[in-house]
Amino acid sequence: MPRNVLVTGGAGFIGSNFIHTILSADQAVRVVNLDKLTYAGRPENLQDLPDPARHTLVVGDICDRKLVDRLLREYMVDTVVHFAAESHVDRSIHDPGSFIRTNVTGTYTLLESARQFWLVEKGIEPSMPTRFHHVSTDEVFGSLAPDAPAWTEDTPYDPHSPYSASKASSDHLVRAWFHTYGLPVSLTNCSNNYGPRQFPEKLIPLMTLNALEGRNLPVYGDGQQIRDWLYVTDHCEAIWEVVKRGKVGETYNIGGGNQPANLELVHTLCDILDELQPDSPHKPHRSLIRFVADRPGHDRRYAMDITRISGELGWTPRENMASGLLKTVRWYLDNPQWIESVRSGSDINTWREKNYTNREAKRA
Ligand code: NAD
Ligand code: TYD
Repeated sequence: MPRNVLVTGGAGFIGSNFIHTILSADQAVRVVNLDKLTYAGRPENLQDLPDPARHTLVVGDICDRKLVDRLLREYMVDTVVHFAAESHVDRSIHDPGSFIRTNVTGTYTLLESARQFWLVEKGIEPSMPTRFHHVSTDEVFGSLAPDAPAWTEDTPYDPHSPYSASKASSDHLVRAWFHTYGLPVSLTNCSNNYGPRQFPEKLIPLMTLNALEGRNLPVYGDGQQIRDWLYVTDHCEAIWEVVKRGKVGETYNIGGGNQPANLELVHTLCDILDELQPDSPHKPHRSLIRFVADRPGHDRRYAMDITRISGELGWTPRENMASGLLKTVRWYLDNPQWIESVRSGSDINTWREKNYTNREAKRA
């Protein structure tokens, strides 16, 4: 069983939810969390951890080989769970270089460091299993036609954005380190997550926070793109199952089976807000929706086939879209201090300017 876990990117959305999940699930686990605290890394995501004494945040870069080497030795790390990444497709269109650096070079640095410590120096005693788990995305598979079957683990890669291409590259590196050096790896490719602590640049928190403020809700293109939405704690539980019981060298697809078109999803969000905020001056929230210029290279549809993980490990999602969305909106309503601190302590205003100014006009 994993004991000393290096989580990378653990101050971000999924990484922080993962740390909450595993500290509750396993009393013997200790976490060292290496995070650069980019705009997306929020120390407030680590407030209220179940047992904070078993968690250490180290602010630093996964590309810093000396630092990674030191952490593996100092904390006698037996398990790496690698979340750290630049993760937003729209930002990758504006600034692809940071995606190549963190997602590709950063993953390479971690792989080399783990190989040196575990396989060359044999720094962990042989009876103690080691694992390098890489967290990836369904976007490596490209875009599905309306009636095409969902992606399996054997579907060839066809990434379309700088983000998905950088994640695909990192997946290839991880598999190469398994085949060439015997590094004990596993991979998960997951669909779109949503839930508490997601930075308000991604669809669901962006629409929720904009609606609460009475701002426009910018739907790209015709709003008929489809994603396979999964509630974040379902993803975290799936990763932990794979780390503990998944086969070495194996990849597992993870998805929620919830596939509404974006516009339908935004409508549902607006209706939830109408109900939970009956006195809002912005009701009906649907009136805030605006169709804006499409994202270049916008993938049309994603869907994941989860036969392998459900068959081998018995994992299926607990939440459906209705229950997950309600929980999510309630979390944002119940955590105004989190919203305030993200608003004041990140680049969200600059990002809004960069990505959304004149976007309505460009569509017209
Ligand atoms: P996020 O953007 O919320 O968090 C990324 C974290 O990584 C931040 O805390 C950031 O500070 C940290 N980070 C970035 N560059 C770093 C560096 N060079 N060194 C150290 N830390 C660094 O991302 P997320 O949504 O939580 O995604 C986490 C992982 O899951 C990513 O690898 C992403 O590709 C993958 N994933 C995300 C989704 C999704 O829907 N969000 C779906 C499938 C897979
Ligand atoms: P996003 O949350 O950025 O995730 P991804 O691009 O990784 O799937 O976007 C989800 C979908 O929502 C995607 O089809 C793009 C669309 N979208 C909008 O229509 N408007 C927006 O302002 C954003 C951020 C996304």
